[in-house]
Amino acid sequence: MNDATIRVERKGKVATVTLNRPDRHNAFDDALIAGLTETLEGIGADPAVRVVVLTGAGKSFSAGADLGWMKRMAGYTFDQNMADARGLARLLSTLDRLPKPTIARVNGPAYGGGVGLVAACDLAIAQPEAAFSLTEVKLGLIPAVISPYVVAAIGPRAARRYTLTAQRFDAETALRLGLVHEVVAADALDDAVSKTVDTLLANGPQAMAAGKALIGTVANRPIDDAVIEDTARRIAECRASPEGREGVSAFLEKRKPAWMS
Ligand code: COA
Repeated sequence: MNDATIRVERKGKVATVTLNRPDRHNAFDDALIAGLTETLEGIGADPAVRVVVLTGAGKSFSAGADLGWMKRMAGYTFDQNMADARGLARLLSTLDRLPKPTIARVNGPAYGGGVGLVAACDLAIAQPEAAFSLTEVKLGLIPAVISPYVVAAIGPRAARRYTLTAQRFDAETALRLGLVHEVVAADALDDAVSKTVDTLLANGPQAMAAGKALIGTVANRPIDDAVIEDTARRIAECRASPEGREGVSAFLEKRKPAWMS
């Protein structure tokens, strides 16, 4: 999908998805949410795409939910609001569960749902101008559907602070909190993203998908017998898989694995 508000650029094994509403700081309404979800589903199912980069056009990453759309929705019934809110929830879970590594290229400020998009990506690289804020309470709202991803990224303590205060925090603070993994000068952003992309392209695509699913399963669960058994099953399956066999053979034969060609 390549509509005006979402740009998708394919370069080899990498898909770059750009939120493209710069005059609205890449705020998302129902149409953009539906389009982005469809785009990500398509990319998720495309074996030729191995890494996904998510970014924003213009000076912001994303100003979150489109407040014009929010205002319109306020006049609708509860059931209509539920159906609509599920759309954003589905977008975030699609991004979170995408069976490929995702990198948020945080080119500028991210507010509200924009923070949620960053948190739902596997990796995030920001430039110093990329401020963050969970602004919702200032508007009498709450960062509801993004909260599982935000809490997973920065923990409940910091999430509580920023949900209640709506304070802006800078890129260095986001780095300290674990919301982003790297902060680099604006003119070094593309280079940093591309180095991370290269790192990911060297890794087994099935292994990365399985590794991502593994973290999703074991995080925040007691290490009981079921978890121990499940982790043993997962590595047993990986070892016997074509990719696992190829990766180990390539190492022992001192050659590049087939997925790197
Ligand atoms: N939804 C809809 N429109 C938005 C928007 C949003 N979330 N964020 C910004 N815009 C619009 C502004 O209304 C403005 O429209 P106009 O040109 O018709 O007046 C335009 O984008 C430019 O924004 P402006 O506020 O003039 O730019 P700025 O550089 O001074 O500030 C922001 C940018 C993002 C800091 C500021 O617009 C802001 O705080 N937006 C709200 C973000 C938010 O709370 N999001 C969470 C929603 S749950």
